[in-house]
Amino acid sequence: MTNKELTLRDKRIERSVTRIFKAVFPDSTNHYDTLFGGMAMSLMDEVAFITATRFSRQKMVTVSSDRIDFKKPIPAGTIIELVGKVSSIGKSSLKVRVEVFVEQMYAYEQEKAISGEFTFVAIDDLRRPTMIL
Ligand SMILES: CC(C)(COP(=O)(O)OP(=O)(O)OC[C@H]1O[C@@H](n2cnc3c(N)ncnc32)[C@H](O)[C@@H]1OP(=O)(O)O)[C@@H](O)C(=O)NCCC(=O)NCCS
Repeated sequence: MTNKELTLRDKRIERSVTRIFKAVFPDSTNHYDTLFGGMAMSLMDEVAFITATRFSRQKMVTVSSDRIDFKKPIPAGTIIELVGKVSSIGKSSLKVRVEVFVEQMYAYEQEKAISGEFTFVAIDDLRRPTMIL
């Protein structure tokens, strides 16, 4: 790949970085009063999907999720920020790294709570893998 192609790809990656904020309300917590892990994974897949789609502007499907690390519990009554960024690009697949930060509502504190990686495949109208353009 030439330097020019690399720069263009880096620009596409930066342009497709996707951020979603959510308030952690009681409808998304578990009996420990922290964000339910399944809810976190669903939100992570969603932000990863949007990132992959904004990068490729093609039809994308989730094909796998790599290890997901839950490092800190996320208490009810906080705000979370999910950040998706393309981390590698194959022929028809790409990987998106997702990080979830927990933020206090009434203080400027933010720390990383969860991270993971999702793989997406670009598909054509017959749902077959197709090249990422
Ligand atoms: C995604 C899908 C079309 C891929 O079909 P497939 O026949 O397995 O694809 P291939 O073996 O030709 O692989 C295509 C690409 O996917 C990658 N891939 C396939 N399975 C993978 C896996 N489990 N993990 C990571 N990458 C994978 C391959 O490495 C290849 O990458 P490359 O083209 O960048 O080199 C098919 O598995 C599918 O439809 N899965 C269901 C998707 C779905 O319903 N998702 C949930 C809702 S979005």
